[in-house]
Amino acid sequence: MLTRSILSARTFAGIVNIEARLYRTKSITFCRPTRRLYTVNAQCSNVGEIIKQWSQRFENEGVPEPVESIEYIVAHVLGIKKPVNLTFAKHEELTLDQCNKLETLCECRLSRMPVQYIIGEWDFRDITLKLVPPIFIPRPETEILVDFVLKRIGASQNSRQEVLEVGCGSGAISLAIAHANKTVNCVAIDTNRQACELCMENRDALDLKNQVHIVHATVTDNGTVQLSDILSGSENLDLNSKTFDFIVSNPPYICTHQIPALEPEIKIYEDLRAINGGDDGLKVIKPLLKYAAAALKPGGRLFLEVDASHPEYIKFFTEKYPNFKLQYEHTYKDFCNFHRFVEVLKIA
Ligand SMILES: C[S@@+](CC[C@H](N)C(=O)[O-])C[C@H]1O[C@@H](n2cnc3c(N)ncnc32)[C@H](O)[C@@H]1O
Repeated sequence: MLTRSILSARTFAGIVNIEARLYRTKSITFCRPTRRLYTVNAQCSNVGEIIKQWSQRFENEGVPEPVESIEYIVAHVLGIKKPVNLTFAKHEELTLDQCNKLETLCECRLSRMPVQYIIGEWDFRDITLKLVPPIFIPRPETEILVDFVLKRIGASQNSRQEVLEVGCGSGAISLAIAHANKTVNCVAIDTNRQACELCMENRDALDLKNQVHIVHATVTDNGTVQLSDILSGSENLDLNSKTFDFIVSNPPYICTHQIPALEPEIKIYEDLRAINGGDDGLKVIKPLLKYAAAALKPGGRLFLEVDASHPEYIKFFTEKYPNFKLQYEHTYKDFCNFHRFVEVLKIA
């Protein structure tokens, strides 16, 4: 849910998920604090006190999820893998260096930087992704999209599956799919070169080099792919003639007029081009449908994450253009019961 705060979305995914996730310490180099906060933390006390004081401060200053925010930051500073394990460190004192680092990171949070950027990584299903602003932070509901794709892949008779992801961002979808199913060959494309590079870094860290190829390319308005650079994979790769068993995408789908109402976490820190779907939210979805009509094998499937108003249009599109041989199959709901994911079949 892009209209909720990132941590809200995360919280909605369930405390179980939060507790199941692993965290590694990484140095933060991208945050330039603008003010010092001696009021809260002049004398760095123990973990329990720090959580109490800072969550209060966050709450007073309107920072969403004040307790979760400070818990993630403290866990990160201490190098504790799960915030839930902080219970066992309640009486632990921080060193001076840790206090200074904590204060800097808390200032970032007061400036509404998302926790995911502050700690520099986040979990998606069972993989951990490095995250760097302004590349889109994967949302928990997108894990549902991956579940549906993996279910269909698992049911397929083919020994190898060719998957294309359009708009890979940090790599959440492609890397989670390839990580979960070794029969998958994935091509991940993004119009943003920085996103492609981050995706590549995450792919290499997960040892998925042989399964996931990353291409800097854009799906254009006429439904073709404009190639900028094949960053990894065959030099002969032609995305306007290659066909796939599955195409999956979480494209920009927020209507432009909804952007001003989004949380500061999103508006200040994330690349708005990654979420802005134009006047009707369909700016990328329409060309994607055209592209999928040409690039899916008969029997292949397109999976899209969309706004709740889009499934109706997608159904209308498939009926209006029978020559595309696309058949609307299903709409699936997200955690909030909104129509969020659409499945389309390519018929023979
Ligand atoms: C909402 S983000 C999704 C990122 C990632 N798949 C995820 O779920 O975390 C959309 C991504 O699509 C990319 N994108 C936007 N328009 C595109 C286009 N026409 N062709 C290829 N990629 C595009 C953006 O750069 C952005 O990384």
